[in-house]
Amino acid sequence: MSQYNYIKEIAKYGLENDQENLLSVLNQLIEYSKQTKKINFALQLQSILKEGLKLQKANGLTKHGSENFFIGKEHHELNELILEKLTSDYNFENLICLESVKNDLSFFVKEHKSINILRNFELPVSNKVLFYGPSGCGKTLASYVLAGELEKIMYVINLGAVVSSKLGETSKNLSRIFKKAASENCIIFLDEFDSLGKLRDYNQDHGEMKRVVNTILQLFDYLPQESIVIAATNQIDMIDTALIRRFDFKVNLGLPDSKQIIELINKTIEKTPFKIKKSTKFDSIIEEAQGMSFYSIQKTLINAIKRTIFENIDKEYTIDLNIWHQLIKNEKAD
Ligand SMILES: Nc1ncnc2c1ncn2[C@@H]1O[C@H](COP(=O)(O)OP(=O)(O)O)[C@@H](O)[C@H]1O
Ligand SMILES: [Mg+2]
Repeated sequence: MSQYNYIKEIAKYGLENDQENLLSVLNQLIEYSKQTKKINFALQLQSILKEGLKLQKANGLTKHGSENFFIGKEHHELNELILEKLTSDYNFENLICLESVKNDLSFFVKEHKSINILRNFELPVSNKVLFYGPSGCGKTLASYVLAGELEKIMYVINLGAVVSSKLGETSKNLSRIFKKAASENCIIFLDEFDSLGKLRDYNQDHGEMKRVVNTILQLFDYLPQESIVIAATNQIDMIDTALIRRFDFKVNLGLPDSKQIIELINKTIEKTPFKIKKSTKFDSIIEEAQGMSFYSIQKTLINAIKRTIFENIDKEYTIDLNIWHQLIKNEKAD
């Protein structure tokens, strides 16, 4: 391919927002430039590419362009059901949880990495995980971690759009999504899985709810072992028990204990210049943070850091514990 052809393809994929193909052509052009001895140009292009990717990955996730693979009606309908298509750089280091939970999740990842070995023994491969527990305790985060560890593309499903008051429509939407996952060996992430409970309000005799549960059970049965379903909910009681039973792993992500709170604090400040002076004040903050979610604690800590900066702009980087203590009090009062 000539240089001009590469440029034409780059323009095309760039305008179509087709990140995957764009990256592939850019990499081809870099290779081509090296081979044709345009080394400087190749290096410049390489650094542009690297910077661009760094910006996108600043939060650990790379969001891919909207679907360009479908034409016509199907394209439109699937687009509405899929909130996001992403790859993730998160790994187990990012998630604070019980050792037993980490072990379960590592086994899950290992099963998929050695799927062929299990196949040789005709053993089934787990591919359905349910995360449950209070809000802000890492259900969404744990899903990103699995996507990162498994190195698979993850489709985040908009369950709000999937669940429809029109009879039969919810099942149809779910089938569409599972069909797509089956053809791409990817992860389907059904966040806020309890949204399915809305069906009970739409249809008082619960007939539609039962039909949808049966559809999901069937879709689970026919899901290829390379494809993965992750569901998350903070209202596990709202979910049909037959459905819960069908998950290979049910993982409870609960509120942090004091050891986990300290781990969260350390992880949050380890890559910053900020420090905390261990003191009785600090101990009482840990005590007071009991019962709060990881998310809320982290939020108050980050706000305390910001306010510390404003309070004493040229002093050291020691977090003002009085400020933080007040923020925790406010957060708990909310
Ligand atoms: N178990 C955890 N370990 C580390 N950080 C956490 C954990 N739980 C929550 N967080 C922090 O709070 C944020 C929000 O958590 P999230 O995964 O969205 O909670 P959930 O989905 O359970 O409501 C995360 O991005 C992370 O910064
Ligand atoms: Mg969540």
